[in-house]
Amino acid sequence: MSIRYDDARHLLTLETLNSSYQMKIDRYGYLQHVYYGHRISGQDMSYICKEYDRGFSGNPYAARNDRGFSLDTEGQEFSTFGTGDYRIHGLRVRNADGSCLSSLFYEKHEIVKGKYSLPGLPAMYGAADDAETLVVTLSDRATGLKARLYYGVFESLDVITRAAEFVNEGAESVCLLKAASVCLDIPYGRWDLLHFHGRHCMERQPERAPLPHGIQVVSSERGMSSHQHNPFIIVCERGADESHGDCYGLMLMYSGSFKAEAEMDQFGSSRLVMGISDTGFSWTLGRGESFFTPEAVLCFGEGLGRISHICHEAIRRHICRSRYRLEHRPVLINNWEATYFNLDEETILGLAGEAAALGIEMFVLDDGWFRGRNDDHAGLGDWYTNHEKLPHGLGALIKRIKALGLMFGLWVEPEMVNEESDLFREHPDWVLRAPAREPAAGRSQFVLDLSREDVQEHLYQAMARLLKENDIGYIKWDMNRCICDLYSAACESGRQGEVGHRYVLGVYRLLERLTGDFPEVLFEGCAGGGGRFDAGMLYYVPQIWCSDDTDALERVEIQYGTSFGYPASSMGAHVSASPNHQTGRHMPLSTRGVVAMAGTLGYELDLRKLSDEDKEEIKRQIRQYREDEPLVHDGLYYRLTDMETLPSHAAWQYVSRDKSTSLVSVVVARTRANEPLINLRLKGLDPGAIYEIRETGEKISGAALMYGGYTLWQMHGDFPSVQLHVRTID
Ligand code: GLA
Repeated sequence: MSIRYDDARHLLTLETLNSSYQMKIDRYGYLQHVYYGHRISGQDMSYICKEYDRGFSGNPYAARNDRGFSLDTEGQEFSTFGTGDYRIHGLRVRNADGSCLSSLFYEKHEIVKGKYSLPGLPAMYGAADDAETLVVTLSDRATGLKARLYYGVFESLDVITRAAEFVNEGAESVCLLKAASVCLDIPYGRWDLLHFHGRHCMERQPERAPLPHGIQVVSSERGMSSHQHNPFIIVCERGADESHGDCYGLMLMYSGSFKAEAEMDQFGSSRLVMGISDTGFSWTLGRGESFFTPEAVLCFGEGLGRISHICHEAIRRHICRSRYRLEHRPVLINNWEATYFNLDEETILGLAGEAAALGIEMFVLDDGWFRGRNDDHAGLGDWYTNHEKLPHGLGALIKRIKALGLMFGLWVEPEMVNEESDLFREHPDWVLRAPAREPAAGRSQFVLDLSREDVQEHLYQAMARLLKENDIGYIKWDMNRCICDLYSAACESGRQGEVGHRYVLGVYRLLERLTGDFPEVLFEGCAGGGGRFDAGMLYYVPQIWCSDDTDALERVEIQYGTSFGYPASSMGAHVSASPNHQTGRHMPLSTRGVVAMAGTLGYELDLRKLSDEDKEEIKRQIRQYREDEPLVHDGLYYRLTDMETLPSHAAWQYVSRDKSTSLVSVVVARTRANEPLINLRLKGLDPGAIYEIRETGEKISGAALMYGGYTLWQMHGDFPSVQLHVRTID
């Protein structure tokens, strides 16, 4: 039983293997947040919440003579705007009387076996024994608005999920202006906020700063989770490192505009609120209608590494659903950086022939294959073969590629349309745009209004036709601009604040149908590289193109940042040409391989230009990847170095669950004369076991490798790299 109710004390306690979460129905009926942190096994933690009469922190009417009681100082399970809690809030509404106030009081709760799901939204799933669900119903007595707070407890995984449903049981309509997924008060302490910012070609860069007094916000207003900020944050004890210190991970399963707020208040306690961004958001609930927020995944653990392990496991086993989630991913060749738009049948078949000879398993035909698409000004929306480039048609090309023994994959960007396309000419009202305003373009394209069911249906038919008519084993689902001009011609003027979220629901609905109807197809997400790299998308696709920056050195940084929340199995990573097209940097093929093998391996370069030596190296890489893939994709991942070490070198490690095998990868960013030694303390090994290092034949105990470390030999040249395969011997 991971969820318990103590009737005498009015305590609700959620317990996982290593953490406890507690809330209490207080004496006025509010749902007080008491504790989340290390497991406290049954202890009533409410003794930590001392009450004082605080100046300028007022009291609700019922407590007007009880001046120690204030919503402004008490922990709140779901704080509301305007009724006396002045800290950041999870709920703000506009009532029929024009007020924006609400107060939520405990009404009832229910504990059920298994994990709840959310209609139309991604959510963690599990077998009946994996999780338990708590639903607490709160109500605003003045309006009849109910809030159902959902908690999913994955005991052995150390995960607690949260989501909320708002139901209007009142007589008048209510408009939600902010509806967060989670509001979490964390214990007193000195905390750092670690978040992941970035830009196109440099996504998810960790930035860590002390949480000061006041409010810090990390958000996206771009209609996508974005390159700029990621809907995953860690709040850790000041001084916490990979293995030590209390850490909280909060991951929002959402692919649209989001907001994560952190506030340290006047008394030194901190609150985190995360959910759909409230900027421009509104959602009207008529009588009897309800609204579900996206799900937030919460975890608590010792050290940043532990947070990563929990998130990786949650994503691999309880978020990704594709049949490929725990299976070998075909090693692919993608023609984009080899040809860009300049593709034709002969070139494609030439590349495919080379790929097959090297042991590559799938050919992916990227942008440029469809009608009118010769550059990025035209064609999006018209998902028919470009017969000028492929005179015998897509089907015939696929047959020839399959005859080489390769699977076939195709690039699409269904959510977009070019002005220069038949689709736009036929349906100019299908793009997001406000009346009497021209829509802004991004990469010369407009955004289709996926909040509309007719648009969703059209796109379903267009994609299903491609998949039915052709033998396609993989789809790269791209999305190459941020969203603005949020206005839908199909939505009433008073409800336009819903369009941003309805767009995301439309994308989810479309992906749900397509992945459900074509379960054999491997879908890879993409948004100008990693602009929509989030747990929401990973519910539909098991891997996402990590970045348009394929430079191996830059990728070390991008994959490092990404690894805090997301497993290697979710990161699309390709070996590309040297000099690299984004940076002009020369990089040895071996190092490019080491970096791409830290994700789902692919190649994206003109294979026809390779030397025989390079071809042998690629064959070797693929053989090695196939051998290491289970360890890389499903093992425990350890960061051995951090951003401070990065100017010199980066190292990371995978360890199998039974600790019998491990792989250490090192990339040297700067070689130096008479250099200082690189000593790596390995992690996660069995201290009592003896390990053999395949590359050197050395036999060293797990304890020695972890506590004394392993010292690398001198490495010279341009960006050298090394991999160490470590295995126990009997
Ligand atoms: C995006 C993707 C690239 C490539 C191009 C094609 O930028 O991230 O990998 O598919 O689009 O236009």
